[in-house]
Amino acid sequence: MSFILSATNAFVLILVLVTLHWASKRKTRLPLPPGPKGWPLIGNLLDIPKANFGKVYTEWAMKYGKIVYADAAGQPMIIINDVDIANEILDKNGAISSDRPVMEMAGKLAGFGEWTSFLMYNTQMKESRKYMHRAIGTRGSLKRFDGLFESENRKFLKATLREPDNVQEHIRHYTGAVIARITYGYEAQDEGDPIIALAESILRSFSQFSEPGAYLVDFIPALKYIPAWFPGAGFKKEASAAKTILQELVDIPFQFSMNEMAEGTAPPSFVTDNMQTVTTDLAKRDLKWSASSLFTGTVSVQYTFFLAMTLFPEIQRKAHNEIDRVIGNDRLPCLADRDNLPYVCAIQDEIYRWRPVGSVGVPHKTTAADTYGGYHIPKGSIILPNIWHMLHDPAVYSNPDSFSPERFLATDGKHPEPNPRTCFFGFGRRASKGSQFADATVWLSIATALAVFRISKVVEGGVEITPEGKYTSSLVSHPEKFRCSIKPRSAWAEPLILQS
Ligand code: HEM
Repeated sequence: MSFILSATNAFVLILVLVTLHWASKRKTRLPLPPGPKGWPLIGNLLDIPKANFGKVYTEWAMKYGKIVYADAAGQPMIIINDVDIANEILDKNGAISSDRPVMEMAGKLAGFGEWTSFLMYNTQMKESRKYMHRAIGTRGSLKRFDGLFESENRKFLKATLREPDNVQEHIRHYTGAVIARITYGYEAQDEGDPIIALAESILRSFSQFSEPGAYLVDFIPALKYIPAWFPGAGFKKEASAAKTILQELVDIPFQFSMNEMAEGTAPPSFVTDNMQTVTTDLAKRDLKWSASSLFTGTVSVQYTFFLAMTLFPEIQRKAHNEIDRVIGNDRLPCLADRDNLPYVCAIQDEIYRWRPVGSVGVPHKTTAADTYGGYHIPKGSIILPNIWHMLHDPAVYSNPDSFSPERFLATDGKHPEPNPRTCFFGFGRRASKGSQFADATVWLSIATALAVFRISKVVEGGVEITPEGKYTSSLVSHPEKFRCSIKPRSAWAEPLILQS
């Protein structure tokens, strides 16, 4: 009898405890942010875009608000559509929101997980960011490289003068060349350079492997264990081929710097700056990977500039006027002229805003539960800042779809609209370490191209051909190849390019 009673008591006790626990959880656990209704088990897996991220997430922003929740088959996702909220969650609470999600195909199998951008929030990542900060983190630290930026830029202008129809390839080549020069002190050949070829091949592989939804192994990580010979495991061979090339890109230019340092002929570079602080083999290995992570670029932005100038001749005319007035026609603008050419700077800002390269940046991941505005943000959430929407929000930017550098100029007592750098380069402890580098490269290419070229629509059979202005829908979005006419502005322009 006593046994039966105590069993009943125990059952009642457990029931009470479970009820209390459930009730207390219900009371204290905040709701998730609003978002699209999901299906059992798969949640919103079918709603989550595989392309046109900015567009789809902006539709969600309109429907659900500034912070949106989605569930990708059990993986919590938070989409942030507002700069202040992103700063609160990703900057102020950066200690718990600066991890990265694992990318099985690109990160683990192909090896890109060793690049700074994709490292978890760990010591290697923090050291890598210190290396970058020391060498290229500020306008002051980059100043000693002004001459290198300018010399690679002159080569770009000459190549564009020679073959204007290949401007996209020239942009690609010379953005790689300037990175190789500042990172390793390596001067690339104008054609057929082996390091630039490696970098271009690797960036193509990365873009293929990181395409959302392209590889099943990103959804079913266990697939990485199937042997490479197994039918359907072709992805493992692809990844392993890319990994070999990536390792070459990591080793070969670094060894070049080591040899130059040993011979005492190495010019200052990211590697020479940081080798002074490296005392162990492990740190040297991490520095090598950190250096190769810099092979990322500004190609999309620079090509967008040519698109914008083709489409908006009136804006180009105003920039020509500013350059003629401030610089004249007997020299090219240089980085020291930046503060004196506000309209050119405003064009750069508007290009950043009008067509942001990464519409949702690089995802962050939380390592602990968080709250925002009365909402619960689960531990392990993937956080996507919807940079596209932040830069096209009509509450922040007037006529956001129009291309208007004037929005960034304080004229007639009007305040400029917010600088796109508030979100363009990401947030908090993972914000881009290349923002100063990108600003210098992009500004110089814009200012010098405006100084010497007239960019316009191609005319065929008396008919102007207007580029459609389409963009690739990948994570890093590029203008699709388009035709434009690039000609020296006047008789003085060609000699100016050739003499420089
Ligand atoms: C217009 C060109 C560029 C844009 C729009 C851009 C944008 C971004 C964004 C959005 C992130 C992720 C930030 C976050 O997680 O919140 C990032 C990370 C990064 N960027 Fe850039 N970036 C550009 C150019 C560059 C260049 C030229 C370099 C190097 C020379 C560079 C180096 C990096 C690195 C190393 C990271 C990883 C930071 C980390 O994960 O801790 N970026 N970039």
